[in-house]
This record gives sequence, structure tokens and C-alpha cells, in this order.
Amino acid sequence: MEEKINKYINDITNISNSNELDAESIKEQYLGKKGILSQLLSEFKSLTNEQKKKNGKLLNEFKILVNDKLKNSGVTKKTNKKKSLNIDFSLPSTFEKTGSIHPLSIIKHKIIQIFENVGFEISSGPEIEDDWHNFSALNMPQNHPARDMQDTFFININPDTLLRTHTSSVQIRYMESNDPPMRIISPGRVYRNEDISARANCFFHQIEGLYIDENVSFADLKKIIVYFLQKLFGEKVKTRFRPSFFPFTEPSAEVDIYWGLNNESDYRITKGTGWLEIMGCGMIDPNVLDNVNIDSKKYSGYAFGLGIERIAMLLFQIDDLRLFFENDIRFLRQFRSLNLS
Ligand code: PHE
Repeated sequence: MEEKINKYINDITNISNSNELDAESIKEQYLGKKGILSQLLSEFKSLTNEQKKKNGKLLNEFKILVNDKLKNSGVTKKTNKKKSLNIDFSLPSTFEKTGSIHPLSIIKHKIIQIFENVGFEISSGPEIEDDWHNFSALNMPQNHPARDMQDTFFININPDTLLRTHTSSVQIRYMESNDPPMRIISPGRVYRNEDISARANCFFHQIEGLYIDENVSFADLKKIIVYFLQKLFGEKVKTRFRPSFFPFTEPSAEVDIYWGLNNESDYRITKGTGWLEIMGCGMIDPNVLDNVNIDSKKYSGYAFGLGIERIAMLLFQIDDLRLFFENDIRFLRQFRSLNLS
């Protein structure tokens, strides 16, 4: 045994001062559970007292040598622990940067909540539409001049496929596959072939509303619109219904709200009038009901379509529509403190 220990002592003294990785493996090799030291110790147990005296000293020497070797390489457990606890808890912490909800999403969510609270359900439809759902079923047959009201992006001609110009197409889809009574809103993106400016873009967002039941009247329409605007802009909001024309509603109206002319951006947003049109609405034309096989003698209904950008411009005092779509981080950051509640 003496020889063996001497050999190990020789080995360990010959190992050059090692880096941390080597030190880890030395530790395992010499001090590990099945390492050299524990093997020697179990051999030691079976020695006679006489032999124990001789070898005990040597064994001890060997153990000290191994430990010294490890200490020099700086890998003992204790020093490791000290290193990792060397943290200054008084330093300021780092903050994760959070994103923000897009202003249009904030407004969309607010509007949806108001209508959901009074029983409207959400329904959606495709952005790529056919002629029937975007035009014909809405009382705008081929060559009807009213089609010119909305400059259309066509994807394909004959059969016509196009980017929907309004969310009214979802009305048709919903009426085709459901029976009255029905009460839905459908938020979505719409496209028009318009020059981009501070007040117009080639795509924007609308929320369509549709209500059909027996004996629905214009008074019901007016009531829901005023209720909605008061919830969104406050009880004191000033509104006006202006007679208008849409092929799919009769009578039709446009709704303006009075925003006032308190500052320059009010002038720009409202073209100097103080009023801004924010939606079109009306009683659904009986022809439309007939087109989707709803009995127009029994049922009547109203529809409305409002522009989300217009409302966001008013509420956030933004006088250039393009800001919503450029995704300039300096613009978007301003909405970080707002959430969806
Ligand atoms: N679809 C019309 C538009 O985009 C708005 C509207 C919807 C008008 C529903 C009346 C009824 O201009």
C-alpha cells in the first residue's frame, strides 16, 4: 500500500498548475465518491494496526497535497460561492421594455365594448370579396353609378374579385347564413383607391353595425347611435344627423359630431367647421333584405358603418391620419400608458 500511495503522491505533484476544467476533473478523480482517496481509505481499514501507523501519515500527506492542488487552481466550492454572491443589491435594476397597444386597437376595443354591453355580437368576413357581397347584394347592380362612390381595388375582373371597400359586405354574409332577429357589429379593414393624404388613406378601419327584427324604426337607430356616442365621447357630446344617400339604406343619414374649434388641430381635423363626419347609417333597404331571402314585409332593420381612424383622431387629437400607419416608434410610445380597460 505504501508504494501505491507514494505513486499517487508523485502523480499529483507532477500535475502542472491547472485551469478550472482540469481542476474539476482532478477533484472528481481524487476526491469523488469512487475516487482514489476513498479507495485508499477503504483499503486502509483492513490493514493491521502496525501498517495503519505507517500508512496513515502518508495517506494524510496525500490528502493535503490534493487539496492544495485544488486550492491553487481556485476551484474549491467555497470560493465559487463567494464569487456568485458578489452582487450589489443597491444598484438600480434593469427594466424590460414593454410594447404598447396601437391607438386604433385601443379605440376599436372601446367601441366593441360599448356595443357588446347592449347585446351586439361580433361577426367578421373576408377582406378579399366578390362583387355580390361588396356591391350587387347591397343594391348596387353592375353599372350602378353609386359604385363610383368608393374607388375600388380590383384583384380580378370577370368574375370580379376585389378588396372590400366597406364592412357592409359582412352584413350580407351574416344575413345569408342567419335568421332574424340579429344584432351584430363587424370591425375590419377596408380598402379604397384613394390618394394618401392627411385625411385619407388607401386602407382604413370600419365597424359595421346591423340590427334586424320586427318593427325596427329609425328612432331605434337614432337611439343606439346617440347612446354609443355619449358613451364614447361623454354625455354632453353634440351630434347631428344629416340626410344622405347610400344605395343599401333608405332613408340614410350621416352622423357628425361637433368637436369645436379650440386649437389649430381642431381646424385641420374638421376642415374649419368644428364638425366631423364619423359614420353613415340608415334603415336597410327592402331590396337588400329580399336579396338575402329575409321577408321584408315582416322584418326591418338598421345598419351603420363608422370609421375607427376618424374617432381615434378626435379622441387623441391627431391631425394626420398617416401617423397611424407609419409605425413611428416615437408616435406609438405615447400610447404606452393606455390599456384596453
Ligand atoms: N358602408 C358605408 C360606407 O362605407 C357606410 C354605411 C354602412 C352606411 C351602413 C349605411 C349603412 O361609406
